[in-house]
This record gives sequence, structure tokens and C-alpha cells, in this order.
Amino acid sequence: MKLVTAIIQPDHLDDVQLALIKYGVRGMTLSEVSGYARQRGHKEVYRGSTYTIDFILKVKLEILCDSDEAGPIVDVIAEAARTGQVGDGKVWVTDISEVVRVRTGESGVAAL
Ligand SMILES: Nc1ncnc2c1ncn2[C@@H]1O[C@H](COP(=O)(O)OP(=O)(O)OP(=O)(O)O)[C@@H](O)[C@H]1O
Ligand SMILES: [Mg+2]
Repeated sequence: MKLVTAIIQPDHLDDVQLALIKYGVRGMTLSEVSGYARQRGHKEVYRGSTYTIDFILKVKLEILCDSDEAGPIVDVIAEAARTGQVGDGKVWVTDISEVVRVRTGESGVAAL
């Protein structure tokens, strides 16, 4: 099993969620996060002075899936979130050793 984690622009959430549902993803977790990467935030002018805003609001999506599904899910997210502008986001995949459905006690792929 894999965990696909995506940090995307909040404006792209609807498009990404729709594309994931169309692909067949049934469950996901959404968090509001703040982050920055290569550009270290953007510059804003306030009362004549320029400030660097380090942290910019983003949304984080987490999707647990069967290992075979991770690659296609990454592609679905990247295509739906891409504008070509800096800050479009990042997607990564981590290995997951166990998942349990609390109600039934099912584990592994059966619990996805
Ligand atoms: N190395 C990292 N570790 C953890 N989170 C990261 C890392 N890089 C980026 N992020 C998260 O992803 C968000 C989006 O990053 P961003 O799209 O700006 O990446 P980038 O590498 O600077 O690409 P681009 O040049 O297209 O902007 C950041 O706001 C941050 O939350
Ligand atoms: Mg960036």
C-alpha cells in the first residue's frame, strides 16, 4: 500500500477532487497547511515597505491506495493542479505497512 500526499493551491482543490473521484478514489483526507518551497514565499508591499511572506496557504490531500494505483493517482493530481506557474504544488508517495478499518478490524488492502 502507498500514501499519496499532495500539496496544492487551494484554488485547484475542486478540480483535483473531481478528477480523483472520476478516477475512482473513494477516500481522502484534506488539511489546510502553510508552506513554501524554492521561491520562499512571495513579496508584498505594505505601507511602502516590502515584506517577504514566508508561509503561503495551501491544501494537503492524503490518499491511501493500493500500490499499483499510486502512479496513476499522482498523474491525475498533477494534471488537474497544473497551471505552469510557480507554486503549483508537490506530490509524493510513501510506503505504508499497515492500514486497519476500525469498525471491522479488517487490515491491509481490504481496509482501504
Ligand atoms: N521540500 C519540501 N518539503 C516539504 N514541503 C514542501 C517541500 N517543497 C514544497 N513543499 C510544500 O509544497 C508547497 C508547494 O511548493 P511549490 O509548488 O512552490 O514547489 P517548488 O519546488 O517551489 O516548485 P515551483 O518552482 O513550481 O514553485 C509548499 O508551499 C510547501 O508546502
Ligand atoms: Mg515554489
